Amino acid sequence: MSQLTLHKYGIPASTLALGCMGFGGQDWFDKGPVTAAEVKQGEAAVDAALSVGINMFDHANIYKSGKAEKVFGEYLKAHKDMRDRMIIQSKCGIVFPDDNVDYTRFNFSKENILRTVDGSLERLRTDYLDILLLHRPDPLMDPEEVADAFNVLHNMGKVRWFGVSNMSAAQMRLLQKSLDQPIVANQLELSLYKNSFVNTVVNINQENIKSDVFPEGTLEYCRLEDVQIQSWGPLARGRFSGANIENESAIVKATADKVAQYAKEKGTSREAIVVAWLLKHPAHIQPIIGTTDPDRIKACDEGTRTELTRDEWYSLFISARGQKMP
Ligand SMILES: NC(=O)c1ccc[n+]([C@@H]2O[C@H](COP(=O)([O-])OP(=O)(O)OC[C@H]3O[C@@H](n4cnc5c(N)ncnc54)[C@H](OP(=O)(O)O)[C@@H]3O)[C@@H](O)[C@H]2O)c1
Repeated sequence: MSQLTLHKYGIPASTLALGCMGFGGQDWFDKGPVTAAEVKQGEAAVDAALSVGINMFDHANIYKSGKAEKVFGEYLKAHKDMRDRMIIQSKCGIVFPDDNVDYTRFNFSKENILRTVDGSLERLRTDYLDILLLHRPDPLMDPEEVADAFNVLHNMGKVRWFGVSNMSAAQMRLLQKSLDQPIVANQLELSLYKNSFVNTVVNINQENIKSDVFPEGTLEYCRLEDVQIQSWGPLARGRFSGANIENESAIVKATADKVAQYAKEKGTSREAIVVAWLLKHPAHIQPIIGTTDPDRIKACDEGTRTELTRDEWYSLFISARGQKMP
């Protein structure tokens, strides 16, 4: 098990967390009741996670318009003794189209933060969130107003810890200046596929760069300020581990072959190689695996016991970035 930054705050989180975005069916805007099949699927995923020692679960109010949290709430209703053995994280700040407007927008107002948390607590059937993340930077964010909301939630015992998602170092610094609590986590899209967080480090002064932009200094800020870096999309939605990649690039296909080769050589799963690649990074990244499949959850867990050599790590990175090192 890697030493997560969350442990410095006394939060005993597992190396992997289970992302619950896949709970509650396929339809993001279905406002109907949860079905027995959805509850059964959620229960199987949570049980599989717990069976391999995953004790942390990632949510957001918007996942399946609240149905993902409701499915998890059904689990907690049936397993009341489990709540205190879990670390539950949810997010606020994204507002889907509704009766008033037909576009998604972001809202870090105090009123929206407080209202969203109350909704999550009700759906999850719990009195508190261990961690609340601000989901995506709201350009209209007033740090003082966010601080006010966090203080209310903290003082009422509704949220123990706070964090952010998809934020750059500069945005975190701005926010942290007003907060009374530390930002304990930043959840970013980081994977062998979304590898710009590594490219940013190695591409200094290079021309003809193929990478997308990752805000420079973000991981460094997190590491300096004890912010747990979490990876969303760590499995690259199965691109390198068995999903259909017929329509993907030659780079993705070659990297998937390499992942399969290492998995075979090491007698482990392809998911384990993809997860181990993230875990080898010295920033102690916590992958938030988004699978609902019990076998895939176990396959990912193998990654916590899979060692990649430096050369294997670089070979995967060079393949996935589609370019030699400078
Ligand atoms: N902060 C943010 O902005 C943000 C954004 C997106 C997600 N998240 C969080 O991060 C978690 C993970 O992200 P994610 O779910 O987008 O990405 P992920 O973990 O990379 O991929 C999980 C998805 O890929 C599918 N998959 C994986 N391997 C597969 C294979 N071999 N064949 C077919 N399908 C495969 C899974 O389906 P199965 O269920 O069938 O395995 C699932 O739908 C989410 O659950 C959520 O908690 C956060």
